[in-house]
Amino acid sequence: MAFPRDGSNPIAWRIEQMNERVRSAKEQDLYLYMQPAEAVDGMHVTINGRKMLQFASYAYLNLLGHPKIQAAARAALDEFGSGTHGVRILAGTTRLHVELEETIARFKGTEDALALASGYATNLGTISALLGRGDVVISDKLNHASIVDGCLLSRSKFIRFEHNNMEALEKALADVPPKAGKLVVTDAVFSMDGDIVNLPEMIRLCQQYDALLMVDEAHSVGVLGETGHGAVEYFGLDVNDIDIHMGTLSKTIPSIGGYIAGRSELVSYLRHTVRAYVFSAALPPASAAAAKASFEVIEEEPERVKALQANVNYFIKGLQERGFNTLNSETPIVPIIAGDDERAWLMAKLSQEKDIFVLPIVSPAVPANTARLRANVTAGHTIAEIEQAMDVFEEAGKAVGVLPG
Ligand SMILES: Cc1ncc(COP(=O)(O)O)c(C=O)c1O
Repeated sequence: MAFPRDGSNPIAWRIEQMNERVRSAKEQDLYLYMQPAEAVDGMHVTINGRKMLQFASYAYLNLLGHPKIQAAARAALDEFGSGTHGVRILAGTTRLHVELEETIARFKGTEDALALASGYATNLGTISALLGRGDVVISDKLNHASIVDGCLLSRSKFIRFEHNNMEALEKALADVPPKAGKLVVTDAVFSMDGDIVNLPEMIRLCQQYDALLMVDEAHSVGVLGETGHGAVEYFGLDVNDIDIHMGTLSKTIPSIGGYIAGRSELVSYLRHTVRAYVFSAALPPASAAAAKASFEVIEEEPERVKALQANVNYFIKGLQERGFNTLNSETPIVPIIAGDDERAWLMAKLSQEKDIFVLPIVSPAVPANTARLRANVTAGHTIAEIEQAMDVFEEAGKAVGVLPG
């Protein structure tokens, strides 16, 4: 080993600390991450020969494997091959990329859209392309890591305000020098807690203080609004109340990639300045075609959104009646608070042993002592399956002392 193990080099120390944590979880047989799936079949996943009911999926409308989406991906693969000739701005743009962007803009009700090969890169690239030294970015404390990293990369002044607290946001806005460029950025649905941002008040404040607003809809497309069109539909907003509509193609949309939708001037600016777009390879054609077909399926099969929303209500109510703390979740992301990391690991392990595939989220991804199961319900679950999962969580909760025995 090239680096000293005596703690004298902080980089080596950091590596050692993380590996020690992983080793310790593995020794206790509590390390449940990155288990390779041997088969994925609708709402079931097979791991180590055990077929489990899926309660960790982002595919909120159960579109993974949908025949129309599969067919679109296959046709694209046959027509254009497995990759592209490079970055979008040079040889990487195909007809399918343009069609995907047109579909996104139509779905979102915006003038234009651009698609990138990753949601993470979309946030990183967009925020850092919009802001620079002397600007100010104001971000909810629970925003996704890709937003945080974009803010840090932008070199602007980075202010974080207390989660979903609009008084704290107003205070932050009021303190910004009047001439500074200002961007407020938020998740629509928070990815660890499953609660929804107070967007109407945030919009009012952005208009009052002349700040641009960027909203990450990774977990709200397909989820919020009567027909799953997201935050604008849910709150009855004007699409231009949000300046920068960000979303991913990796959750409800069962593909890969990210996008920005908005006014054509914004999208044109980003096409020429977002480094993750200009200097990174284009989305593979099959992924672009699958994503386009997925937006169409959401509109063609609105019963999926209805089923999801009914399942969300049933699941949250049932967990709360069993005595679990699910924070303020109103969406398919349902935290089941366990407390310390070991309890969350153990609850997840016990659940998996009873054929429910759920995963623990521990610090630093969430604050210390709020380790949890992050249980995701989808349109694909039946009521009987939700009951089955809740029974298993209750038994596990009692076994580790999260619920009274
Ligand atoms: C709120 C939010 N934004 C952005 C991303 C990044 O998207 P992707 O996984 O598609 O890169 C995620 C993914 O976990 C997310 O939860």
